[in-house]
Amino acid sequence: MASFSFLSLLTLSLLFSAIHMSRQQPLESFEQESVYQVLDSINSQIPWRTLFPDDLCLSAPHGIFCDYFEDLNGVVSAHIVELNFGFVSDYNPNPPCTPDSALSPLLFTSFPRLAKLFFYKCFNGSTRVNLPGFDPNPNLISSLKELVFIENPSLVGPLSGILRNFTNLERAVLSGNGFYGEIPDGVAELSQLVELTVSRNELSGRVPDSISNLKNLRILDLSHNEFYGLIPKSVSELTQLLKLDLSWNSFNGSIPESLKNLKSLHLLDLSFNRFTNSGIPLFLSEFESLREVYLSGNNLGGVIPEIWHGLRSLLGIGLSGNGLLGKIPSSMGIFLSNASYIGLNDNMLEGTLPEELNLLENVNELNLKNNRLSGRVPFSAKFSAKIGSKLKLEGNPDLCIEEGLMGSKNLGHLKVCDKPSILNPVLLVNSGDSISSTYSVSKYFGWYFSMGLLGMLVWFY
Ligand SMILES: *[C@@H]1O[C@H](CO)[C@@H](O)[C@H](O)[C@H]1NC(C)=O
Ligand SMILES: *[C@@H]1O[C@H](CO)[C@@H](O)[C@H](O)[C@H]1NC(C)=O
Ligand SMILES: *[C@@H]1O[C@H](CO)[C@@H](O)[C@H](O)[C@H]1NC(C)=O
Ligand SMILES: *[C@@H]1O[C@H](CO)[C@@H](O)[C@H](O)[C@H]1NC(C)=O
Repeated sequence: MASFSFLSLLTLSLLFSAIHMSRQQPLESFEQESVYQVLDSINSQIPWRTLFPDDLCLSAPHGIFCDYFEDLNGVVSAHIVELNFGFVSDYNPNPPCTPDSALSPLLFTSFPRLAKLFFYKCFNGSTRVNLPGFDPNPNLISSLKELVFIENPSLVGPLSGILRNFTNLERAVLSGNGFYGEIPDGVAELSQLVELTVSRNELSGRVPDSISNLKNLRILDLSHNEFYGLIPKSVSELTQLLKLDLSWNSFNGSIPESLKNLKSLHLLDLSFNRFTNSGIPLFLSEFESLREVYLSGNNLGGVIPEIWHGLRSLLGIGLSGNGLLGKIPSSMGIFLSNASYIGLNDNMLEGTLPEELNLLENVNELNLKNNRLSGRVPFSAKFSAKIGSKLKLEGNPDLCIEEGLMGSKNLGHLKVCDKPSILNPVLLVNSGDSISSTYSVSKYFGWYFSMGLLGMLVWFY
């Protein structure tokens, strides 16, 4: 009996909530009308009103989303929460843009509960589309959480015109547009930001110190712009960062030691800037989560340091075009067995290639082009066959291969080494070096070391 009444109570309350749902307010006519106008401004060839005549909260084009909100008096109202424009794929067929798509100011004034605004490849015509001057709806300032503009090259305007004080903004992804000017100082007010990506615009200036206020930032991507000056200390205070990409700008000075605070980094890309003379930063060895590090195209100088012991999870390493001197350390072969890409090309590296590079069992590309490397190429036929043409050794006139490797197509351009009698002493000196170096080969790869020794003995006879 008791269980029956409990069940009926449950049924009753379910019924109530169903009635409650069905009594929900339709989208207010002002918001409904604004959606039609925005859709018309995006694509006037589609008869939106005819195709979607009903409450847009019940039936709307893909990419337009509603939600219901209850105020303190229990009154429920419907509002637009997401507007996505630009066809992405068959699975994500947002309203398609046209060469005449426009950016309606209504977007910023008519939707008090809008949380996400998304534009993908919408503005790429020959005519420029200017950011509308707008006073955002006061509610929008706190409701907007995601602002995404990707690949809209003819949408132009100052960054400060779009990156406004939306105080609850969590993701700003503004990549591949025509935004110019500096990062506004007011960025500091966006204290909820988790991602700030402004890559591939025409932005310039220095990075404001106030950026240190963005304590939740996980992704900072300023790549492919014209930012200059030193990397400000404030960036080093963003200790939650997983990704820091400052590549393809004009940052200069040395890579600041303070970046060592960014211990959670997975990706550090500082390539193609004007950093000078700081060498490869030693603090990298403490970044145990680091998966990718790209420092190519600067002028860091110095030798490749022994930092690889702590960096065994690295997948990609780019150190090309840095005026690096000295030898390639055997520790790179020993510890980087997970690495898929290693670029050391266009430096002044010299000496022989360490035998340990054969241990790079996951490497898909090893680029050593245009250095001053010399002596016998140590790669096994198996290694050379697996990596194929992505083993790049051109531009090292003093490298040579054993006759046994002559068959490999990718190494055919190298000359054949002279008789071993000349090379033997060199080999012995090398192996002596690696025994006494910081990383004892025999400790980590005892088996490999004995194999190597065996190989050398065989060599002698
Ligand atoms: C813009 O249009 C040009 C040609 O019309 C095209 O080549 C280019 O890929 C487009 N860019 C984007 C970002 O859609
Ligand atoms: C928005 O930012 C500007 C400049 O930083 C400031 O003057 C204005 O008061 C802010 N508005 C709101 C509503 O926070
Ligand atoms: C860095 O660049 C700025 C301007 O772009 C220049 O004033 C400054 O002297 C440069 N600093 C260094 C250390 O090269
Ligand atoms: C190397 O890759 C394997 C397979 O993805 C993974 O299980 C292992 O943890 C990686 N090693 C390091 C040191 O990250």
